[in-house]
Amino acid sequence: VHNIKIVRDLGPFNPEKWVGFFEGWPNPPNSATLYELLLNSPERSLAVDTRFNKVVGFTYAISDKLLSAYIPLLEVLPEWRVKDLGRLLIEDLLIQLRDYYMVDVCCDESLSEFYEKVGFQKAGAGMIRRNYRMQAGRSVK
Ligand SMILES: CC(C)(COP(=O)(O)OP(=O)(O)OC[C@H]1O[C@@H](n2cnc3c(N)ncnc32)[C@H](O)[C@@H]1OP(=O)(O)O)[C@@H](O)C(=O)NCCC(=O)NCCS
Repeated sequence: VHNIKIVRDLGPFNPEKWVGFFEGWPNPPNSATLYELLLNSPERSLAVDTRFNKVVGFTYAISDKLLSAYIPLLEVLPEWRVKDLGRLLIEDLLIQLRDYYMVDVCCDESLSEFYEKVGFQKAGAGMIRRNYRMQAGRSVK
């Protein structure tokens, strides 16, 4: 993909670089919270448009460091979708997670094909619980 690099280092991408994510969320985490989520998650992958030095996609995992990992979020900004960035991000994250036994993600039915293409399989029932009062996340200390 032209003008795109996949990186893991948050270094230059301070909170101001994280705009436009959480499409469709009524009460999304703000950019400082998003930055903190990534800072707290050593396994992460960012897509950067080198023309603007702008973060246009990200994913990350949380883990117990030994056995299992979970991918809470994956998002590519609308203008950059369907250009393979989602796949590149998840593939780069999976390289970082290669030594975990369990790697899980919960997604809408419409995305099962996307995840099957990168090696996931459907599980019997993904059960989730949401506390909508906290959709923006706990406050960053
Ligand atoms: C899901 C998302 C990250 C995909 O990113 P993307 O960069 O557009 O996807 P890619 O271009 O890498 O697509 C890879 C492959 O999956 C397919 N694909 C992408 N989105 C798809 C979708 N919604 N449904 C079915 N297939 C899809 C592509 O056609 C492509 O297939 P191909 O290899 O046969 O050409 C992006 O649509 C997004 O940010 N959506 C909103 C947030 C979201 O739903 N995140 C998932 C949370 S679980």
